[in-house]
Amino acid sequence: MIIAVDGPAGSGKSTVSKMIADELGITYLDTGAMYRLFAYKLMKENIDFSDREKELKLLEDLNIDMKDNRFYLDNEDVTDKIRTRETSSNASKISVVKEVREKMVELQREFSKSKDVILDGRDIGTVVFPNADLKVYLNADPEIRAERRCKELRNKGENVEYEEILREITKRDYNDMHRKESPLKIAEDAVILDSTSLSAEEIKDKIKKLVEEKT
Ligand code: C5P
Repeated sequence: MIIAVDGPAGSGKSTVSKMIADELGITYLDTGAMYRLFAYKLMKENIDFSDREKELKLLEDLNIDMKDNRFYLDNEDVTDKIRTRETSSNASKISVVKEVREKMVELQREFSKSKDVILDGRDIGTVVFPNADLKVYLNADPEIRAERRCKELRNKGENVEYEEILREITKRDYNDMHRKESPLKIAEDAVILDSTSLSAEEIKDKIKKLVEEKT
């Protein structure tokens, strides 16, 4: 079984997908982490984001591993390091590159072979798995998504301004929705859920119900 969860930044996709994976005993794949990981690699190697040639060379040699919800780059666990604001915005920048997307999609399909997986991202139901058993588009008002992101960053000790985070989220959504390659959009057969006034637990229960209906 493949469950696709797409939606904008901060809508609660990863929290809810993780909960579902745990409860159903299936595998979870955070596809955003893969784009973040590549952006992090470019940052680490000091590669200019407009230097396409060097970027593609690094992509070719990319050595990533995903195990138990942890992400490894060249055998180093970078799961926490890729969660910064800078990596978020750089991940969005590199996600427009066709070759980068092709490689990530290939890795995502390979990873999901012969197992039950819930994947969250931007193009899971539209491009990666157009025949997914269940497609969910999880949305929420930008203000609530920015509030959640602020809380998450403040819990990590970061001193962040709500207005600034709201601006960043809105810009990232705009870029993700308007890029040429696999833009974020609602798959025709997706079930749309809105987490603006629902808790992660409530969204999780709704998705679990949808899964039960499919099985
Ligand atoms: O989901 P997350 O916020 O971690 O994703 C970071 C960025 O990676 C997104 O803003 C988007 O540009 C990109 N992404 C994507 N396709 C996916 C997952 C993430 O383009 N399937």
